[in-house]
Order: sequence, then structure tokens, then C-alpha cells
Amino acid sequence: MSVLNLGIDAGNYRAKTAGPYGVDSYRTAICSWFKRNIEEDFGEDDMEFEYNGRKGFAGTLASYEDMFGESGMYGDNKAHDDTVIRVLLAIYRYTQKYCPGFLRFNIIVGQPIATHKPSEKKKLIDMLVGPHKIIVNRKTFHYTIEQVKVVAEGTGAFFASPKSGRIHIIDIGSGTVNLATLTDAKHINQSSGTFNYGVETTGGRDNVDNLARAVIQSTTKLRWREEEPIYVCGGVTEEVIPVLSERYKNVQPIIPQLNSHNGMQIHLPTFANAIGFYELARQLYE
Ligand SMILES: Nc1ncnc2c1ncn2[C@@H]1O[C@H](COP(=O)(O)OP(=O)(O)OP(=O)(O)O)[C@@H](O)[C@H]1O
Ligand SMILES: [Mg+2]
Repeated sequence: MSVLNLGIDAGNYRAKTAGPYGVDSYRTAICSWFKRNIEEDFGEDDMEFEYNGRKGFAGTLASYEDMFGESGMYGDNKAHDDTVIRVLLAIYRYTQKYCPGFLRFNIIVGQPIATHKPSEKKKLIDMLVGPHKIIVNRKTFHYTIEQVKVVAEGTGAFFASPKSGRIHIIDIGSGTVNLATLTDAKHINQSSGTFNYGVETTGGRDNVDNLARAVIQSTTKLRWREEEPIYVCGGVTEEVIPVLSERYKNVQPIIPQLNSHNGMQIHLPTFANAIGFYELARQLYE
């Protein structure tokens, strides 16, 4: 069997995966293993896993346990163990759903713009590359990640729907906001950045208007101009666009276009990074 190319956006709220068959996503909460007296179903993404001596639950089930305060790392660095588990579970779900049998992978993953530095990228690549053994729902899987590239979140979303000229991308996540500027597909460092707040750290989905106003403040620090085109992605895209439009004249969602085996697929803006990463993977690895 050949090598499967995947784009994996292992977000702190949900992982989004894109590949040649379509997309997948699951809730990325992780909690320690405990004896379940009642085996209740919380979601189709409930998973029991064991990796490197660490045993736990992931998915919606784990998100309920998280409420009693375990992990929930809404931070701006993804070079940590949880990212490896999230990526392996993304691979598990994707292959189970679309293409069981694939065991070797070339992937592109994301890192917030702020921590998108050579040393942090190397750390993440070293953690991901190579053979991995993971047990999911009591079945053992041996996966090999052959090649990994790390791309900046927000900037990577561009490749899900490329545009020419100078444009901005706003990627609002659970714990971070990535603000990217590109000119003809080139990342412009001085007008891009990561801000350390997001939906889950500012009062949740019910409070997105205030969050969107904070994002406007952050964009003015980067000297974005009101007439420049702005493309929005992330889990609250639809909710924030009306507020962002109070300041910016040309705000639109990113409509990700996935080149699948069966032709072009259109997906929700939340998949923009994953699909952008996959597009880059296709170009890089094929
Ligand atoms: N399926 C969903 N149902 C309900 N709310 C959602 C869903 N997906 C996303 N959200 C909301 O949108 C927010 C942002 O989600 P998103 O997937 O963009 O975050 P993330 O990429 O996981 O986080 P980060 O980029 O900070 O690592 C979440 O915090 C949540 O409030
Ligand atoms: Mg995100």
C-alpha cells in the first residue's frame, strides 16, 4: 500500500483532517483513563487510547471530563505530547472512515504563527516522524509517519482558496487568533502574528461579539487597512463576520476547495487550514 498524504490541523478544540477522500474532524479533548461504570456514548468520536504508556480517553467523552479541570491547553505552542496523540487519532479516524489499510503517511501540520520558529518546528517534526504504536478502542495500530512539514496556521489556510494581491486572513481558534497577511501567496511577517486569546478563553461562543472587537484591535496593531480584503476561517466564522464588517469593508469567509479523488469538494471555513495543508502536501509529496 502506498503513502497517504494528509493535512492535519490539530486544534485545541477540534482536529480537522483533509485528504484525497474528503475531510474529518473530532473534538480534541484528552483525559486520563478511568474505570467507566456506565459505558454511555457521548459522541461518535469517543475513543479510548493507549500511547507510550499513557492511557486515556479522547473526543466528546473526554471533553465532559475536562470540565472538571484536567488538561484543556488552549495555548500558542503545539510542540507537545498531546499534539502527537491528536495527530495519531486523526490518522486513525481518517483511515477507518475512508481508507482502512493505509499505514504510511506524509503529513503537513500547523503551528501558530508566533511559535512557527525553526526550533519549535524541529521539535514537533522530531516528535511526529517515525514509527508509532497506538491502541485505539482496544485495537493496535502501527503507523509510520514518513515526512512531516509544519506550516503556519492562518497562512496555511490561504492554499485552500488562493487569491492574488495583498490579502489578510483571520483564523479565530479556541485559544489563539492567527492574523496573516500575504502578498501574492507570500507570507508578510511584519503584518502577521498570533494573539493569545480565543473563543474558549473569552467567554465562549455566546460572547463572540466582544471577541471579534478584540480581534479588530489586534488587526489595527498590525496596521491593516479598512479597504483591504479580509478572509475569515475557524469555528466561529459566520458569527464574527458581521462584527468585523463594522470596521472592514471587504470581509468574507474562506470557502475551502479540496481536490479530492472524485473532483472538487467545497467545505466549511473551519476546514480551511486542514485543506490548505493538504493542498500543500499534494504539491510537495506527489
Ligand atoms: N462543531 C462545533 N460545535 C460547536 N462549536 C464549535 C464547533 N467547532 C468549533 N466550535 C467553536 O469554535 C471555536 C473555534 O473552533 P476551532 O476549531 O477553530 O478551534 P481550534 O482550531 O481547535 O483552536 P486553536 O486554533 O486555538 O488550536 C471553538 O472554541 C468552539 O467554541
Ligand atoms: Mg485553529
